[in-house]
Formats: sequence, C-alpha cells, structure tokens
Amino acid sequence: MLRLGRLVLRLSRLQANPTNSRHSMAYSAKIGPSILSSDLSCLGSECVRMMECGADYLHLDVMDGHFVPNITFGHPMVECLRKTVGQDPFFDMHMMVSRPEQWVKPMAAAGANQYTFHLEATTNPGNLIKEIKESGMKVGLAIKPGTTVEELAPWANQIDMALVMTVEPGFGGQKFMEDMMPKVSWLRGQFPSLDIEVDGGVGPDTIHKCAEAGANMIVSGSAVIGSDDPRSVIALLRTAVSEAIQKRSLDR
Ligand code: DX5
Ligand code: ZN
Repeated sequence: MLRLGRLVLRLSRLQANPTNSRHSMAYSAKIGPSILSSDLSCLGSECVRMMECGADYLHLDVMDGHFVPNITFGHPMVECLRKTVGQDPFFDMHMMVSRPEQWVKPMAAAGANQYTFHLEATTNPGNLIKEIKESGMKVGLAIKPGTTVEELAPWANQIDMALVMTVEPGFGGQKFMEDMMPKVSWLRGQFPSLDIEVDGGVGPDTIHKCAEAGANMIVSGSAVIGSDDPRSVIALLRTAVSEAIQKRSLDR
C-alpha cells in the first residue's frame, strides 16, 4: 500500500513538471532581431523598439573589417546599449572578428550575455570556450557556409548554442542559403537539446525551412527591421518554430 502511494506521488510529480515529460523538448523558439540593418544612429531606441515588439533577445553583429569586409561597433557601444535598454534584454554577441580571444573580458564587462565566436577565427576553441565561461557569459559557436558541421561537432557538448550561418557573414539583406539546412538537421539529430541558431536571409519566406530542419534561435535582420509591422513578423517567426518543435516532439 505504502509502495503504491509512493508510485502515485512520483507519477503526479512527473506530470506536474513539464520538463520531465517524455515528449518535452529542452529548447524553445526564440527570435533575435539583428539590428544591423536598422538606423545605426538610433541603435538604442531601435533595440528598445525590438524588445517592445516581442523579441526574445537581441543579436548584435560585431565586425572588425578583417574577418569580414565590413566594420560595425565594439564593446563601448555595447556598454551604452546596456545602459539604454536596462539589464533584462539578452545580448547575443555575434563576433565576426579575427581575434575573438581579445574581446571576451571587455564584452563581459560591457554587459554581453552570450559570446558567439567563429570557429574559423581561432586555433584554440577549447581555451576560448573556457575563457568565455569563466567570464560569466554563455558560449555560442558559429560556422561560415564553407565550414562543415563535423568540424563544430567536437565542441557541441561544451557550448550553449551553435550558429549555422545561412549567408556569408558581413552584410545584412543577403539571400538565404537553403543548402545549409542539412547542417542544421544533422546537428538537431546529434544534439537534441542544443540551442541551434540560424542567421542570414531568414524571414517569413524562409523560416519554415529553418524550423523544419530544427533551428530554434532565429536571427532576422532586414525582414524584421524593414517591416512596417515588426511585431507581426516576430510573432510569425516564433509560431513557425514553435509548431515545428511541437511536431518533432509528437513524432518522437
Ligand atoms: C550577417 C549578419 C546577420 C545579418 C542578418 O553577417 O551576421 O546577423 O544582420 O541580416 P539579414 O536577416 O538581413 O540577412
Ligand atoms: Zn549575425
């Protein structure tokens, strides 16, 4: 009788906690506008506007004119943005820079939450991952279109997020590369609970491919910023990803 009582108690606890469900997923749909294509003279108010329109996080593109043929901003700007938007918004720093080791501490001090570096930019990813964690930030690892997903795989268990680039990094407004989707599917199959981000040319026309492949963190620049109704675009992107996650959990 006592054993039966314990069993009932355990089952009810399992039901009360959705993360214990056999069908639940460890990851959720998150939409992170890239403010690269906004009016850069109004970056603070553009970030605030995106959060008010329902963004889950902000994707901030740092370019050094060396790793990519374009220059944006660095940690002093991030520090100012943090003051403008407050403590809550999550800053995912997309570090398109040649020496990612150099900016870990300054970015952490400026208020970055996640440091997403490119695998192509470092000879010692393991050490960089360690340094990012020690500085209190989450770790993102990005690969350019020409880098295989097998090169990222050895690090996947040490990172918080994998970023599969769906354009050549450097500029907003480029065409989505659908042929990157097998990388996303492969990663989702191998690492079922990893956050997987896509970046480049993602919007209402291309989101379903990303969602079906298994991406759950969606960067969208021109499609969101350039829209008359960014709130609706963000909601549409999130719905597409949430539905794909739900479908995958039912299929398991
Ligand atoms: C490109 C950047 C992207 C870019 C995305 O190098 O990493 O984040 O701003 O912009 P769209 O969505 O316009 O391709
Ligand atoms: Zn980016």
